[in-house]
Amino acid sequence: MVSRVIPVDPFDLVIFGGTGDLARRKILPALFRRYCAGQWPEDVRIIGAARSEHDDSAYRALVADALREFAPERAKDSPSVDGFLARVSYVRIDAEEQAGWAELAGQLTEDRVRAFYFSVGPRLFGALAGQIEAHGMVTDRTRIVVEKPFGHDLQSARDLNATLAGHFDEGQIYRIDHYLGKETVQNLMAVRFGNMLFEPLWNSQYVDHIQITVAETVGIAGREGYYDRAGAMRDMMQNHLMQLLCLIAMEPPAKFDPDAVRDEKLKVIRALDQVQPHHIVRGQYGPSDGEPDYRGAVGNPRSATESYIALRAHISNWRWAGTPFYLRTGKRLVARSSVINVMFKDAPHSIFGADAGRHANVLSIRLQPNEGITLKVTIKEPGPGGMRLIDVPLDMSFAEALGPENQDPPDAYERLIMDVIRGNQTLFMRGDEVEAAWAWTDPIIAGWQARGDVPKPYDSGSTGPGDAELLMKRDGRHWQGIKP
Ligand code: BG6
Repeated sequence: MVSRVIPVDPFDLVIFGGTGDLARRKILPALFRRYCAGQWPEDVRIIGAARSEHDDSAYRALVADALREFAPERAKDSPSVDGFLARVSYVRIDAEEQAGWAELAGQLTEDRVRAFYFSVGPRLFGALAGQIEAHGMVTDRTRIVVEKPFGHDLQSARDLNATLAGHFDEGQIYRIDHYLGKETVQNLMAVRFGNMLFEPLWNSQYVDHIQITVAETVGIAGREGYYDRAGAMRDMMQNHLMQLLCLIAMEPPAKFDPDAVRDEKLKVIRALDQVQPHHIVRGQYGPSDGEPDYRGAVGNPRSATESYIALRAHISNWRWAGTPFYLRTGKRLVARSSVINVMFKDAPHSIFGADAGRHANVLSIRLQPNEGITLKVTIKEPGPGGMRLIDVPLDMSFAEALGPENQDPPDAYERLIMDVIRGNQTLFMRGDEVEAAWAWTDPIIAGWQARGDVPKPYDSGSTGPGDAELLMKRDGRHWQGIKP
């Protein structure tokens, strides 16, 4: 089954920071893939905007390089690359100066969607927003896209929200959390709310606990400055893992529409208890294969920033009271693997005896790699010789169920940018959600600072610090393995 491509209306997309790393790695390749998929009409325009001295042809050369590096499978097709580049142009612009802005305004087409992608540090959001408005570029069909980090604490997030609200309506602001664009994350909603099977069991009466793991093998090379100020809590937990938690835990929204979904997510964040210090484990990775340890990588021998965090969260509401959520994420771990495991309670009584070989059901939602959903169920081991039981996976791997062409679903950015053009905010964070997530995060970080907390070392290539195992063991539970 080949996925359907639903064409979008013509649009102009301006990428501020158009020569930067995110533009080269993610935004331009995503746009190019959608172009190759035939999702655009002919007259779409992509305008790169940045401070460097480029003309259109130099910028096109830069874009072509980026496509060859980050979309190599498609960039082999020269007519496609040429067709894409024909829609690309460049304007030299500085957010804090006047030059270039009138030229940019002159290049935009009247009466069509115009999206401004702020692929720059949040320090420039205010200046960019001000220039866009001052040069008359705000229409009903104007949208802006902003990237995380959306603030570094509650106050800075409030300030950013207030700055943007001075120029745009909330309905025009698209705050990206690219985890929401991942195929399986949306599938999670489809599985929960499109089937009768799971929802009746989706509560503390039947679910023992939930594990959310986002394990990475990469370190922090190339982003040392940012990362040492952020750490795993701000970089991953406050946003990506929090969003996964929300989708797993939220009540069924009345409709699949932006505010209905985001209202329910917000309620989850607001129902989170403050995490107890003894329910948090922080870690820092050690050296490996000639690569320095975390402190060596950031060049700060006393850094107390965590590259790993595990914690136990509680949601105080009727559905989830008594069901812990264990969340963990870290760099330089044994495998790249993002998975949510819903660990069901055991059957109340085993008619087959205590050691018959059966275990409680587990629903595993694998985000990456090998996107898919598996339900572990107990069956009888085939053959004579009595009633021996085994656990087998009911496997809904996309590639197997839907054909090999679905093996590599579109990148999150492809979907999210097309949603911006369509004007669908369902998979974007609303301002109040971001603030609520910081309100939960801030006291945790403040507690570490007040106590002078130092992360525990862990081996590169391991599953993280031993204390993370203890966090589970103390509760009579254990983490599911981190498997590629
Ligand atoms: C980013 C974080 O938001 O997500 C990175 O800043 C992290 O530190 C990345 O590596 C992970 O994204 P993905 O899609 O590779 O799981």
